[in-house]
Amino acid sequence: MKTNYKFHKEDEITVLTGAGISAESGIKTFRDRDGLWENHRIEEVASPIAFSKNPEMVWKFYKQRYLQLAKVSPNPAHFALKKLEDFSGSNFNLITQNVDGLHQIAGNQNVLEMHGSLRHCFCSKCLQSFEIKEIDLDQIIPKCTHCTGNLRPDIVWFGEMPYKMEIIDKILENTKYLIVIGTSGIVYPAARFLSIAKYFGAKAIEINLEYPLNSTVLDEFHQGKAGEMLPELIERWIS
Ligand code: APR
Repeated sequence: MKTNYKFHKEDEITVLTGAGISAESGIKTFRDRDGLWENHRIEEVASPIAFSKNPEMVWKFYKQRYLQLAKVSPNPAHFALKKLEDFSGSNFNLITQNVDGLHQIAGNQNVLEMHGSLRHCFCSKCLQSFEIKEIDLDQIIPKCTHCTGNLRPDIVWFGEMPYKMEIIDKILENTKYLIVIGTSGIVYPAARFLSIAKYFGAKAIEINLEYPLNSTVLDEFHQGKAGEMLPELIERWIS
C-alpha cells in the first residue's frame, strides 16, 4: 500500500468518519445496498416533522438501532485511529458523522459527534438530557421523568443544525492533514469539509470502498475496506 506521507508529532491531524468505518462491525451504512435508507424513508424516521407526526415509528427505528449497539464492537479501523491519536496527542481531532460511539469504545478521546449519539436522548419539552440506558425503553414513547414530555433521540435530523460546527470550522482551517474514511460525501455540511480544509492548505487523504464523488480535491485515495487498509496505512504514516 503506497503513501506519499509521513506524519510528525507536531502535525495537526484531523479525521472525518462516516458509516463505512462501522460497516465491518456489522452496522449497516445508510446508502449502500440494503442500507438503512433502503428499508426506511428518511422523512418518516429522521426529521423533526416525522417525530411530531409519528413519534412511535421514530422511536421504534431508533430503539432497534440502539439495541443493536449491544451486539457490535469496534473493528481494526477504529483501533487504528486510537493508535493515531496516541501518536499525535492533542494535535489529533476525530470528527464523526456516526452516532454509534464505537470510536470512544475503541479508546479515542478527542471525538466530535457532529450528528449526536444513539446513547443519549433529551426531552422535547424541557430539553433535559438523559443517558439512554437510564430510560425504560419498554415505553412506546419514552417520557421525561422531570416534565412527562416526550423524549427524543439525541440525533441531528435532516433539516437540523449539526453539533460543534464552530469548533469544527476552526479545526478545518488549521489542520495539516484531513483523512476522510467511509463516507459517501453526499450529506452537508460534512460533504464540504474536504474543500474547506484544502482551501486552507491541508493535504486530503480518503479511504473508501467506492470512488467518492468529490474526489477531485483529494491528494491521495485508497480504495478498499477501512478495517483492512487503515491499520497498515497508519503504521506507514507514523513510523
Ligand atoms: N470501508 C470503507 N468504506 C466503506 C465500507 C468499508 N468497510 N463499507 C462502506 N463504505 C463506504 C461506502 O462505499 C459509502 O461511500 O462508506 C460510505 C457510506 O456512505 P453512507 O451510507 O452515505 O453514510 P455516510 O456518508 O456516513 O452518511 C452521512 O447521512 O444519513 C445521514 O446522518 C446520516 O451521518 C449520516 C450521513
